[in-house]
Amino acid sequence: MALFLIIASLFFLWIISLCKIFLLPRAPFTKHFTLNGRALRKRNVLLVIAHPDDESMFFTPTINFLTARGHNVQILCLSNGDADGKGNVRKQELFQACASLKVPMQQVKVVNHPDLQDGFGKVWNHSLLAKMIEEEIISHCIDMIITFDNYGVSGHCNHRDVHYGVCSKLLHDTSRRDIEVWELVSNNILRKYSGPIDIWLSMFWTMLPSSVTMQCLVNEHSRRSLIAMAQHKSQWVWFRKLFVILSSYTYMNTLRKIK
Ligand SMILES: *[C@@H]1O[C@H](CO)[C@@H](O)[C@H](O)[C@H]1NC(C)=O
Ligand SMILES: [Zn+2]
Repeated sequence: MALFLIIASLFFLWIISLCKIFLLPRAPFTKHFTLNGRALRKRNVLLVIAHPDDESMFFTPTINFLTARGHNVQILCLSNGDADGKGNVRKQELFQACASLKVPMQQVKVVNHPDLQDGFGKVWNHSLLAKMIEEEIISHCIDMIITFDNYGVSGHCNHRDVHYGVCSKLLHDTSRRDIEVWELVSNNILRKYSGPIDIWLSMFWTMLPSSVTMQCLVNEHSRRSLIAMAQHKSQWVWFRKLFVILSSYTYMNTLRKIK
């Protein structure tokens, strides 16, 4: 009986939270991207990820937010995810996933460099990462970068190296200091798998006065995120399906401004 009550209340909370997420996008909840009267300015945003599918598993609320407002989104994927020898297939899957997120293939670049190969324990050269990101910044007049934080959501070393490539290399070495940089905040495992329910905590944290540099973006098209993930056919196995449904990153992203 007690177990039934717990399950019933969790289910109820899940539904209430989903409703909150569907209603929230219309609320004025975007303090930073619209700050200083720059709301009307279209940004050239570069999303830097490590593997094909990072965009669909972790960043869809952010991508949907930006494309819905007409910002130009470029995606730089620093490996083709060749850990199982499926690099070419995964690259095509990434293009399809991005297309369903309204980012056409011409705005997606996949790097396949011998020193940047997908895998646990493969250390990526931060200077090389910074160099490649810098090239993208120049060729697309990028004025905002979004990437992983220093834990990289799942703790994957490639995600973390991408963060360091941007934050400790690029930001220190580059002469271009006019770029805004945001990182995706990694949550503890309980919050990570609480699906839409995490909206209450995310809202609470980003509304604290000490969180002036944080912003919670809710997913305005959760269904689109599922469709995007399903384009990664070689990865679309039961535990990833479960991940996408249970993951709070499907429903919202908390971003922290680091520059
Ligand atoms: C890292 O990459 C930079 C730039 O491409 C290169 O100059 C440097 O030798 C590389 N370092 C290592 C340890 O491979
Ligand atoms: Zn990844």
